[in-house]
Order: sequence, then C-alpha cells, then structure tokens
Amino acid sequence: MNAAIDYASNNRRTLLPPRSTERFARPRLLELPRPLGELVHAHDGRELRLRGIEPGDVAALKRQFARLSPEDIRRRFLHSMSELPEPMAQRLCRIDPAVETAFVLMDETVKPAELRCVGRIFVDHNTNSAEFSVLVEPNWTRQGLGALLMQRLVDDCRRRGLSEIWGYVLLENRPMLQLCKELGFKRRPSPDEPGTTQIALQL
Ligand SMILES: CC(C)(COP(=O)(O)OP(=O)(O)OC[C@H]1O[C@@H](n2cnc3c(N)ncnc32)[C@H](O)[C@@H]1OP(=O)(O)O)[C@@H](O)C(=O)NCCC(=O)NCCS
Repeated sequence: MNAAIDYASNNRRTLLPPRSTERFARPRLLELPRPLGELVHAHDGRELRLRGIEPGDVAALKRQFARLSPEDIRRRFLHSMSELPEPMAQRLCRIDPAVETAFVLMDETVKPAELRCVGRIFVDHNTNSAEFSVLVEPNWTRQGLGALLMQRLVDDCRRRGLSEIWGYVLLENRPMLQLCKELGFKRRPSPDEPGTTQIALQL
C-alpha cells in the first residue's frame, strides 16, 4: 500500500520516506541558532545580555581591551599588556567546554554590540577545582555585574561537581577582594606570586 495515501476518512497522512539518495546522503551541517542568553539589568537599569562567549566575539573582545585602563588590565591579567594579541583573543573566545566556561555581558543598545563584562573559569580535573577571572569595564562597575558573573561562575562550578573555585588577586585590588569577601571567599597566601593573594571558595 502507498504510504502517502491520504486516508480522507480519518484525515491521517503518512509521509513518504526520503529518496534513497537523500536517505544515505551525508547530513547537511545546519546553522545552529545562536543561544539567546538572558537579559539582565545593571543597578541603574541599563540592559545587557548574559550569554556564553562565542568565537565571533573576538573583535568585540579586542575593542573592550582598548577601553580598559592600564590598571584594569594589570588587575585582570596580573601584569601589564599594551594590546591583546590576536592569537590570545582567538583563544579566549574559542573555549573548550569540557574545561572552560566563559560568560559575557553584551550591550546590544549600540551597533556593533559591545562586550562590557566577561567572567571565566578554567577547570583543573587533577585538583577538582577551577581558576576564575572576571572583568567589568569602566563605566559599568559598581552596578552589581561583577557579583552577578561571579555567582554564575560559582553555580557553574557546582554544576560541574567541583570542590573549589579560586583565583589570584593583586593585594592592592580592593574592589575584587571586597567583592569576593562578600561572596564568602577566603584568602590564603600565595608565596610564589609576590604582591598577590589567592582567594578560594569551597563548594
Ligand atoms: C573587581 C571588579 C570585577 C568588580 O566588578 P563590579 O561590577 O564593579 O562589582 P559589583 O558592582 O558587583 O560590586 C559588588 C560588591 O563588591 C564590592 N566592590 C566593588 N567595587 C568596589 C570598589 N571600587 N570599592 C570597594 N568595594 C567594591 C562592593 O562591596 C560591592 O557591593 P556594593 O556596590 O553594593 O557596595 C571590577 O572592578 C573589575 O573588573 N576590575 C578590573 C579587573 C579585576 O580586578 N578583576 C579581578 C581579578 S580576576
């Protein structure tokens, strides 16, 4: 019996199987829709989209780097850098989800959309822990965004079943030390990295 027969009596319609050339053809690579992420609001009401970082964020990441002060850069990377080298930018945007999570907060009120904040972890399976870093660009600080990103990173570490999230922070970086203290992180000395301390949260 022909499978495409329209059984008018009960309105059922069975679809024909695809032609043999299609049935055994290589599957076409579908363009997956970009994850929409989630809209979040800064304390002052400005809207940003929270989503995972994507390979296409390289240009936005480099533009953000150009807006940072030398102090922000030193606090984030723990040393001075005059520019973000292309291979490093590529690497930071093309993450390995098995061991990395990176969230960005995108400002879509401007064109092109600008990357305002980024928070990431790198997992070390040997120690069942993850090292974090976070960066909020000037003009967007003191808006609750650093705390939001840190909380999402902590949640992600818990989802992964890790026992600790930790990071290096410069001893003079009062904002970050204060933020981490409020989130329950504890300080411990880092003798091999002078001028820095390690902060960690047991999960
Ligand atoms: C540190 C940093 C991430 C904070 O981000 P942020 O978005 O401004 O932080 P939040 O607005 O979420 O602040 C949360 C709390 O942290 C503390 N805090 C943040 N900035 C502070 C500051 N300048 N002085 C004192 N406390 C501060 C406050 O307790 C604050 O709560 P409150 O605003 O209700 O008082 C941001 O300043 C930054 O990116 N600095 C440069 C890079 C860096 O230092 N990264 C950390 C090392 S990886």
